[in-house]
Amino acid sequence: MKISVLRERRTGETRVAATPETVKKLVATGHSVTIESDSGKAAGFLDSAYEEAGASIAKDAVATAKGADIVFKVRGPEDSEVAALADGSTLIALMDPFALDAKVVDALNAKKIASLSMEFTPRISRAQSMDALSSQSNLSGYRAMIEGAQIYGRAMPMMMTAAGTIAPAKVFIMGVGVAGLQAIATARRLGAVVTATDVRPAAKEQVASLGAKFIAVEDEEFKAAETAGGYAKQMSPEYQAKQAELTASHITKQDIVITTALIPGRPAPVLVTEDMVKSMKPGSVIIDMAVAQGGNCPLSKPDEIVDVGGVKLAGFTNLPARLPADASSLFAKNLLAFLPLVTAEDGSLNLETDDEVVVAMLLTKGGETVNERIKS
Ligand code: NAI
Repeated sequence: MKISVLRERRTGETRVAATPETVKKLVATGHSVTIESDSGKAAGFLDSAYEEAGASIAKDAVATAKGADIVFKVRGPEDSEVAALADGSTLIALMDPFALDAKVVDALNAKKIASLSMEFTPRISRAQSMDALSSQSNLSGYRAMIEGAQIYGRAMPMMMTAAGTIAPAKVFIMGVGVAGLQAIATARRLGAVVTATDVRPAAKEQVASLGAKFIAVEDEEFKAAETAGGYAKQMSPEYQAKQAELTASHITKQDIVITTALIPGRPAPVLVTEDMVKSMKPGSVIIDMAVAQGGNCPLSKPDEIVDVGGVKLAGFTNLPARLPADASSLFAKNLLAFLPLVTAEDGSLNLETDDEVVVAMLLTKGGETVNERIKS
């Protein structure tokens, strides 16, 4: 197959969908790889390294995508990027499927481009190595804690010095999925005293195993809050009220709060209200990792640090892009792991498969939108 990698064009996007390491493996399995010039520059992967790994470099998007069977991208395409894609080719990317612009879908269908969304990789053991949401969330959770520590004007660990003792920072993680668990682990390594909450009971043991304390309203609804896919359900207004009461008394004592709560296909739940922010000590920090999905706090703003009476609220919309080399390496490996599922025995592209992973990820094919989750 001819596999092409386009340079990311969205503001602030520093990742790239292939690395010299994955190019080497693709070439070794008989594929040809074309990389758009400077695709990996922001992540520290230069054109020369891709060439050494066996790729050819093309000067622009059209030249890169020409004749490609598959195009790898990190982010789903904008209008101009769809225009560069060859008719009938296949695109694999983080398509942001629930926020996908109808115009982009129409443009993909008009060019009969098959698109596959990495976000829709099913959470089954066989697909773990392809799960880009996990690979990127893990890095996001780490980076959120580092950003929080950097904005916070005090030290994280307890320090006993001749001049006096510094108390350890109190860190509260709200939402303990992949990102939240990594944020807990990072906060613990930095020496903070860590508490965490989630609506899924499975999170309780995981929090304890990382040496943090679990805090949650553990009623009957909590016991049934996890879907078969491993995600959280939207909680009832009654549960949310009880949760808010518990959070309100806890949050006033915290120094750094990191919120990660998401519900697939829905706006993020509000967990930190305006009153809660105002109840925190000046100098405290909130990192709202859900800001791109509406935010877990109504006061946070995308890619801004808002000051509310001395409490600093930071909303990062693209934390993996702040670790471009690692985020690209893991994403590129996710794509590499997925590729065999759409490769026929003779090495050609095969989308005519009933493999549940491929079926779940396909958004458009042959001029039609084929995914029920984005049809309505
Ligand atoms: P996510 O990014 O969708 O959400 C983040 C967290 O927010 C989740 O833990 C969710 O329970 C929590 N949340 C939602 N509403 C909340 C509320 N009102 N209050 C507090 N917390 C709330 O979740 P993510 O990171 O994608 O992980 C979801 C689950 O999937 C985890 O159990 C994870 O271990 C599991 N998983 C399984 C995989 C596999 O089996 N292959 C791969 C990756 C993750």
